[in-house]
Formats: sequence, structure tokens, C-alpha cells
Amino acid sequence: MARRSVLFAPGDQPDKLRKAPDSGADVVVFDLEDGVAPAEKDRARRAVNEALSDLDPACEVCVRINPTGITADDDLDTVLSGGVTPDSVMLPKVADAADVTTLAQLLEEHDTDVPVLALIESAAGVLHAEAIARADATDALLFGAEDYVADVGATRTPEGTEVLYARQRVVAAASAAGVDAIDTLWTDFEDTDGLRADTRRGIEMGYDGKMAIHPRQVTVINEAFTPTEEEVAWAERVLDAREEADDVGAFAVDGEMIDAPLLAQAERILERAAVANR
Ligand code: COA
Ligand code: MG
Repeated sequence: MARRSVLFAPGDQPDKLRKAPDSGADVVVFDLEDGVAPAEKDRARRAVNEALSDLDPACEVCVRINPTGITADDDLDTVLSGGVTPDSVMLPKVADAADVTTLAQLLEEHDTDVPVLALIESAAGVLHAEAIARADATDALLFGAEDYVADVGATRTPEGTEVLYARQRVVAAASAAGVDAIDTLWTDFEDTDGLRADTRRGIEMGYDGKMAIHPRQVTVINEAFTPTEEEVAWAERVLDAREEADDVGAFAVDGEMIDAPLLAQAERILERAAVANR
């Protein structure tokens, strides 16, 4: 399943939990962590449990719990009660592979084995990204720039050079382990142009999707992941030419040499076009 757009909705706001799947997001995340004030956590757990039992949308429904060792166990007790299960669980502030393993054990104690989406947003997480991606339960890595910047004491800039290394390391770790890579948020949800440009940068780096906080952002992100007609036409020419070229390793399309990496790119373009046309 595609994970182009990953929209958060605060767990203590039942109206937003119910509206989120209508946004067109590939994944909605019912949040129990930073989006919920400490005093509201218990109310949020119950609201998320209710929303999960009432809703059955076509998109993936994920729950972001609190970090393991804090209240993850309490979160799962309430969220999963009555036999309801989300499609996946997001673990924030993942520092090493043991965090994912601990969560997988907790899930097992709650009789479920849903995949874990691991949010990497600290120096330790970035350094251990490879092991986190390779943990059995991990199905995606997400990069959280804001918390990462706070953790290392960097300053956020419009160019984003302060997160470049971390952002690229996360995508490399996810790719090596064969799991999805989901890019950081664009926090200014009024700034559509900024979001579009930042989504493109993430796609250029190899990201499969991007997090969002507002339904309006979902449209922009899904569009950015939709190949243009020209790209689709190029990809089709390339794959047609491959058929004709038969066993030849490299051949030419539009005066450009095509070999294995460009074939892979053409296939990816057609996969993205197929997702966009669903
Ligand atoms: N999920 C579902 N619906 C949302 C939404 C979200 N994340 N954000 C906004 N909406 C809805 C609003 O309820 C409103 O619906 P309505 O037209 O039926 O009244 C509509 O979209 C327009 O919202 P708008 O008035 O532009 O925004 P807002 O001021 O209500 O909310 C935020 C702004 C940032 C508070 C809100 O987008 C939000 O809560 N985002 C998620 C925050 C979060 O989860 N953070 C933690 C993870 S990083
Ligand atoms: Mg956070």
C-alpha cells in the first residue's frame, strides 16, 4: 500500500479523527503523543479507541503512541481494548532497534502483530537508523526534523542544510532494509508553495511519502507524488524500447542512454502513476 501522504489528527479531538480519512491521505495517524496535552492523554486514548471501532476507511489507520518506557503500555491497553486494532502503530523518538523490539513484545502481549512505523527524530535515532530499519517489526522509517533539530541544538533554516545529513541517512537506511521512507513535516500549513517545493526535495532524495498536519497539505503532497504526463510518456517509451532491445544492457531513448538505473526510474514513475489513478 502506498504511503504518499501521512496525516496526523490529535487523539483528543474526535471530530478531526473522523474527518481525517476524508482528506485523501494514504495514511491517517491518530496521535497520542506531542499533539495531545499530558492532562488529556487518557481522554485521547478513549477517543482513539472509539474512533477505531466506529471507522473503517479505505486508507491505512495508524496510532502514534507515546515512547516505549513512558506510557506506551497504558496507551495500548486502552487503544486496543474491545478487540479493535489499527493497521499500524507509530513509535516516536525511536533511539535504537531495541525500542522497536520492546514495542513488538508489547504488541504481542496485546495479541497483535501490526507493523511498526518508526519515527526517527534524535541524534541517536539517526545514528542507529540502519538497525532500526532492519528490526523485524519495522515497516517504515519516518524522519522528524523539528525534534531532531531540538535534540542536536541546531537552528532551523529555510534551506534545511542543518537536517540534510539526517534526512538523507534515514532514506538510505530505509532503502537498504527495503522499508518505506516518510519525510518530515512542513509546519507552516498556510504555505502551499513551500510545502510543494519541500515535498519535491524529499522525492528527489528518494522519499516515498511525507507527513502532514492539515488536510490541505494532503492534496499538495499527493499531487507532488503524481508523475506528469511527460514523465509517464517517457517511462512508457523506455519500457517499450526495453522490449525491443531484448537482451541488450543499454539502449537509447530520445538520444539518452538507458540502462538499469533509468529502467528502475521508469518503473517507479509508472507505479506512482498507477497509485495516483486509483
Ligand atoms: N485532521 C482532520 N481534520 C482537520 C485537521 C486534521 N489534522 N486539521 C484541520 N482539520 C479540519 C478542521 O477541523 C476544519 O474542519 P471544518 O471545515 O469541518 O470545520 C478544516 O479541516 C479546516 O481547518 P482549519 O480551520 O484550517 O484549521 P484549524 O485551525 O482547525 O486547525 C491545526 C489547525 C494545526 C490545529 C490542525 O490542523 C491540527 O490539529 N493538526 C494536527 C496537529 C497534530 O496532530 N500534531 C501532532 C503531530 S505533528
Ligand atoms: Mg514530536
